[in-house]
Amino acid sequence: MRTFRVELGSDAHSVHVGAGALDLTGRLAREAGIAAGRVLIVTDSNVARLYGERAGAALESVGFAPRTLEVAPGEQSKSFATLERVYDAMIAAELDRSGAVFALGGGVVGDLAGYAAATYMRGVALVQIPTTMVAQVDSALGGKTAVNHPRAKNLIGAFYQPRLVVADVATLQSLPEREFREGLAEVIKYGAIMDAPMVEELEHGLSAILRRDPVALEQMVARSLHHKATIVASDTREDGLRKILNYGHTAGHALEASSGYGNFLHGEAVAIGMVAAGKLSQALAGLSAAEAERLERLIARAGLPTAMPAGWRGEEFVRAMRLDKKRAGDGVEFVLLDRLGHALTRKLSFAEILAHLE
Ligand SMILES: NC(=O)c1ccc[n+]([C@@H]2O[C@H](COP(=O)([O-])OP(=O)(O)OC[C@H]3O[C@@H](n4cnc5c(N)ncnc54)[C@H](O)[C@@H]3O)[C@@H](O)[C@H]2O)c1
Ligand SMILES: [Zn+2]
Repeated sequence: MRTFRVELGSDAHSVHVGAGALDLTGRLAREAGIAAGRVLIVTDSNVARLYGERAGAALESVGFAPRTLEVAPGEQSKSFATLERVYDAMIAAELDRSGAVFALGGGVVGDLAGYAAATYMRGVALVQIPTTMVAQVDSALGGKTAVNHPRAKNLIGAFYQPRLVVADVATLQSLPEREFREGLAEVIKYGAIMDAPMVEELEHGLSAILRRDPVALEQMVARSLHHKATIVASDTREDGLRKILNYGHTAGHALEASSGYGNFLHGEAVAIGMVAAGKLSQALAGLSAAEAERLERLIARAGLPTAMPAGWRGEEFVRAMRLDKKRAGDGVEFVLLDRLGHALTRKLSFAEILAHLE
């Protein structure tokens, strides 16, 4: 198991990554200073079936009395209605301010339970136990929590740091292939924006990762979370450096938002967005053609899409980009690479973006 600290002052916390870490969650929570008896596990019904019992046993083994709330799997559960169910379960479990919420599942459960933990009694301890690739390499760390408004995703949220993150890479074995590969987009992103040697290691080690070799997974998840921790520690509220984590996301979000292109998973849209950003980086920031091609090849080998969908239309794309949170007037703050492993942000006009994508 690999362990490191996220240095966030009074919000500093530990991250543990390894096969079998789930069974140690109780002891790790005690070590992290969670003293209460009454705690709530929030999970979805898929994850409950696979890992619910083990999580409960791990907590009971050190004297916690956990209750469990199961929500329906999927994005629909990041809703006001489900949030209310989480509060109800917290009250029914008699959680007081010394209580804790354990988010066992993917990004949906993490964001939902995280927001509930941030707001219940103005904040109770939160433990993230991510079980998807997306959650293990991205959403479990960083403190972004949210539910969706019927009109906009993640509109209602809070920055709220977990007290502990426990990523058991063995849980990735049960993920469907498409969801597994989706998460690799964010892994490749860390290499692209801040760690060129990681790109090289992914090039060599990709087959072991795709076989879900436990050692390869542990190394990859730990390195990804460590990179995210470094960036988050320097910029907890996304005013500066943290923006580079959006590499591939401006075009990716536009693809996700402009309907009619088929249903991309987030990571798949980001994969296409990273290839598009690579082209822009070549044209506008000095990224070499060879490095842009290496990234594109790696993304393709990970089984992710690289090309804009057939029949995509520029004006629809711009309409979607206008809704981007990073929009500034007639353009958007875009993340580019000047070389492999190094990112910068630059304001690009929509016209400029389209000119290089078409
Ligand atoms: N807070 C952040 O910083 C951040 C970052 C990225 C994404 N997100 C959010 O995360 C959400 C997406 O997360 P996700 O991709 O993990 O989706 P998810 O939580 O919906 O999980 C995907 C599916 O996998 C199932 N599942 C979970 N773990 C499993 C396992 N080990 N084996 C088999 N099946 C399993 C779930 O039941 C679900 O059906 C989005 O709502 C997104 O907004 C948040
Ligand atoms: Zn993302």
